Amino acid sequence: MNAKSIDGKACAAKLRASIASKVSTLPRQPGLAVVLVGDDPASQVYVRNKVRQTHEAGMISVERLLPADASQQQVLDTVAALNQDNAVDGILVQLPLPPHLDEAAIIAQIDPAKDVDGLTTTSAGQLFLGKPGLRPCTPTGCVMLAKDALGDLSGKHCVIVGRSILVGKPAALLFLEENCTVTIAHSRTTDLPELCRSADILIAAVGRAQMIKGSWIKPGACVIDVGINRIAAPEKGEGASRLVGDVDFEDAQENAGFITPVPGGVGPMTIACLLRNTLLAAACRQGVEAPSV
Ligand code: GUN
Repeated sequence: MNAKSIDGKACAAKLRASIASKVSTLPRQPGLAVVLVGDDPASQVYVRNKVRQTHEAGMISVERLLPADASQQQVLDTVAALNQDNAVDGILVQLPLPPHLDEAAIIAQIDPAKDVDGLTTTSAGQLFLGKPGLRPCTPTGCVMLAKDALGDLSGKHCVIVGRSILVGKPAALLFLEENCTVTIAHSRTTDLPELCRSADILIAAVGRAQMIKGSWIKPGACVIDVGINRIAAPEKGEGASRLVGDVDFEDAQENAGFITPVPGGVGPMTIACLLRNTLLAAACRQGVEAPSV
């Protein structure tokens, strides 16, 4: 089999267009604030993309750039000020934060009504309880791509490799909401290849370049690769590098029915889902019905 590549870029562009078309239905223009601490190059690229796409969606973008040696109090004060700012509907603190900062305490400072990353205890609790709330962006994007490829996901076995707070755990609950049978695998799972071979939907979110091989994939399965890893690419010249996922893409294509490329798969969906959450948070804060997007 030669897997069909899932076009995350096109899917994200469609979602962003739908969001942009709903922005003008709100009483006030939605605002998304991003807090970036330090100068990690990958985070700077993410933030630049977020700012551009926020503007393109017709929303206000607010950036708070703090130095790498910013104190815990400075970051907490920055978030507290954004909580108070009525023009800001969504707050995202770019992760990872420099190691001297207490990430959990900073996330806890975000007003749950503005938690567009879905990372506060309130948002996580709402998801756990199956109640409405702001859902984490990357796992939401994974569900959307899987539904785009397969349609109804009921009864499918979804194996998630990785148990992070940002992706693995919330993805498990979101696929459960789609009536999947869900298994979470991790570094201590015994016979991971065999478990992966039982997956109709395989979510790779381990952060290890090309770890998941073609022989681990059930023929026809839908493979969603969340990994973004930079590896050396000597074929492109000395010192060159390229981005790869957690799945060995060339190898996996032989068995998979559908597969997301890296880059151009899950990545663009994350920002589109962030804009969607900002629209939903803005509607809720402005007392109007949530637009369907
Ligand atoms: N860094 C990489 N991905 C994400 C994300 O989805 N949210 C935040 N806050 N930081 C990130």
